[in-house]
Amino acid sequence: MSLASKIDSVRDTFSKSLEKLSAGDTTVIEKLRHEYLGRKGKVADLFSELGSVPESDRPGMGKLLNKLKSELTREIEKMKDAGSTGTASPEKIVDLSLPGDEVTMGSLHPITKTMREVKQIFQAIGFSVAYGPEIDDDYHNFEALNIPKHHPARDMQDTFYITDNDVLRTHTSNTQIHVMENQEPPVRVICPGRVYRNEAISIRSYCLFHQVEGLYVAENVSLAEMKGTLEYFCRHFFGEEVKARFRPSFFPFTEPSAEVDITCLMCCGDGCSMCKKTGWLEILGCGMVDPAVLEMVGYDPVKWSGYAWGMGIERLAILKHGIDDIRLYFNGDVRFLRQFA
Ligand code: DAH
Repeated sequence: MSLASKIDSVRDTFSKSLEKLSAGDTTVIEKLRHEYLGRKGKVADLFSELGSVPESDRPGMGKLLNKLKSELTREIEKMKDAGSTGTASPEKIVDLSLPGDEVTMGSLHPITKTMREVKQIFQAIGFSVAYGPEIDDDYHNFEALNIPKHHPARDMQDTFYITDNDVLRTHTSNTQIHVMENQEPPVRVICPGRVYRNEAISIRSYCLFHQVEGLYVAENVSLAEMKGTLEYFCRHFFGEEVKARFRPSFFPFTEPSAEVDITCLMCCGDGCSMCKKTGWLEILGCGMVDPAVLEMVGYDPVKWSGYAWGMGIERLAILKHGIDDIRLYFNGDVRFLRQFA
């Protein structure tokens, strides 16, 4: 066999032995190094054969041998390094008995969850969902809802003005108007969304929150139907045992108007700190749509009548889950949010 073919065959057997090695196996690596690169190793043997090669071929063979030696040295060093830094080929170092990386799952925000629950309850009895603009003009947020300029009812809502005529909507009631302007009766919608009020931030109030507005307009709609619908909601959202009462109130866009209270979820009506010893918790405002509002959107108030209501989503969730600070909804603290996962 010529020296050149011997060089090739040494390279081949070395590669085969290398494939069978594990990176961390330092004694076997050292053995291999010794076998090939040691003083009496296979490479040294080949060098000693150089003398019997014809003189003209010697420089070329010498080069080939040096190349082989540095290649093998490099491979051995690589193998040693991989063992100490753990970067050997993955299949050789993966430890399948180690526990896996924990993947933390996100979850829906409690407001989103409550919003979806409310939507489902009303969709089940035929209400569809409509969305209105969060930036709206004075007309849709106030005027068309029977709240003229300088009307004292505007004091109830501290408004963020964008321009003289545009506001961040203070309630989702603006969407009632948009829906009625664009659709002939009968109308049966709920309108969820964000609303904004310029209020001092405290455990009880925040500069933005969410509401769901409801509107039903048809022929001969009665107050009894409104009661039935809202009681149905209370039972499904808060539980069968909860009772609701309708307390006369005032809203410019409804006549007559009422507020709905439910029996306190904490003390069941006995009186506690949550219900301020009254036994009742206020959850929404409602009423029969004022004929002036129907006229404003071009509905004939003689032919059509309806009821509407509006409720705060944060408040519903606060009551249901016994949350004591509205700001928790907005500061993104995962310790709070995880409890709803
Ligand atoms: N817009 C009222 C508010 O933000 C809630 C409300 C009360 C809406 C009575 C209505 C209603 O549609 O009939 O406080």
